[in-house]
Amino acid sequence: MARKLLLEHINVPGINTLEVYRQQGGYRAVEKALKTLTPDEVVEEVKKSGLRGRGGAGFPTGMKWSFLAKPEGVERYLVCNADESEPGTFKDRYLMTYIPHALIEGMIVASFALGAKTSYIYVRGEMMPQIRILEKAIAEAKNAGFLGKNILGTGYDLELYVQPGGGAYICGEETALIESLEGKRGNPRIKPPFPAIAGLYNCPTVVNNVESIAAIVPIINDGGDEYAKVGIGRSTGTKLISAGGNLNKPGVYEIELGLPVEEFIYSDEYCGGIANGKRLKAVVAGGSSVPILPANLILKTLNGESRLMSYESLADGGFATGTMMGSGGFIAFDEDQCIVRNTWNFTRFYHHESCGQCSPCREGTGWMEKVLHRLEYGHGKLSDMDLLVDVSKKIEGNTICPLGDAAAWPVASAIRHFRDEFEWHVTNPQEAVQRNYGLAHY
Ligand code: NAI
Ligand code: SF4
Repeated sequence: MARKLLLEHINVPGINTLEVYRQQGGYRAVEKALKTLTPDEVVEEVKKSGLRGRGGAGFPTGMKWSFLAKPEGVERYLVCNADESEPGTFKDRYLMTYIPHALIEGMIVASFALGAKTSYIYVRGEMMPQIRILEKAIAEAKNAGFLGKNILGTGYDLELYVQPGGGAYICGEETALIESLEGKRGNPRIKPPFPAIAGLYNCPTVVNNVESIAAIVPIINDGGDEYAKVGIGRSTGTKLISAGGNLNKPGVYEIELGLPVEEFIYSDEYCGGIANGKRLKAVVAGGSSVPILPANLILKTLNGESRLMSYESLADGGFATGTMMGSGGFIAFDEDQCIVRNTWNFTRFYHHESCGQCSPCREGTGWMEKVLHRLEYGHGKLSDMDLLVDVSKKIEGNTICPLGDAAAWPVASAIRHFRDEFEWHVTNPQEAVQRNYGLAHY
């Protein structure tokens, strides 16, 4: 059985309450950090752990914390990004629903380390049940002396607020989130300056994902070195994966980083193979913002080695991008799924969610959507694939925030790996439309 650091007690009845959470050892990390460690020592443990941001970018958390500016007399903030909206990603929602105190405990320790006296959990607006769960858990923690003034008699004060999000995917981008938290339209800011220098109300701010913050609890309980022993190479610790698509057992799994992808898909401990006895066709391993890979490339690297669930192994996908670990939204497609239709669907999403500030993203996502739509509905041309690649290249790297890249990569990678299927849509339009929608639509 794989080691569990975040979900070890997830099946204990009542674990969502403070009482049961404490019976399972909850809030030990708060006691240890506030009573026996200095804020710098907490940061040091997080650095030693090698924890990398679990929202998608994989940036080292301890390094991000150490970038936080500390000018005299200026407030500092910790903001938890719980605006989980990446298609195929539902692991933060799961954690907040079933074990909310893990997030709150992590928030207290992280806020202490960063010197924040006011912290926020910015939750996706649609997640009303989770907002209520968190508010209830915060009230419990406050009643027990873990929040508010003079926490556990240590002299440390912290107020923690839950803020419902603005209901837009872009509000999960950290600077758009900050704008939204300030009461404005969620438009991303140009970086630098990074939030660590000028974030919420222009003050130094750290924005961390839900899972990253919850991981602080085992790091402080067991020590950063112990945490770093789990995982592989620079991919330390465990990771929550939301597995979806054509799998026998979709759901949220906590894996040790370094698990072979093949084992994750096919073993009974995890996804139990492809549903209905079908063959695997492709996988999007880290939410819709990462390239799509055909089955052969998701199971083996370009060198023929087993591909692992790790930031490094998933970076080599025969496509020039960073890691494909992304947000951990693992979407499997069986042999019957249409890649053109899926690519159009993703692109439609990005076009809809583009904030419209920069032309390559605003216009480019629209053009890609139109071209993919005509391909999907049997009116495409053979030159459309080159046109799509050209548009995607003009978006990539030319926008204010990563939404532009996120829209470009799935299109370019789908054409790279599945060009035959795109061409088949052009040469056999009637058959393609009939396959997906029935003849009446042609
Ligand atoms: P990023 O790579 O620009 O930044 C990562 C983090 O490091 C940020 O917090 C940034 O402020 C910090 N950082 C980087 N360089 C820094 C420096 N020199 N000084 C101080 N701080 C620095 O990536 P970003 O925009 O935070 O995230 C993009 C990722 O988000 C994508 O890879 C995508 O997978 C993921 N994503 C996840 C979603 C979800 O629902 N979980 C939704 C949408 C995207
Ligand atoms: Fe807005 Fe798209 Fe530009 Fe991001 S890349 S700022 S979403 S227009």
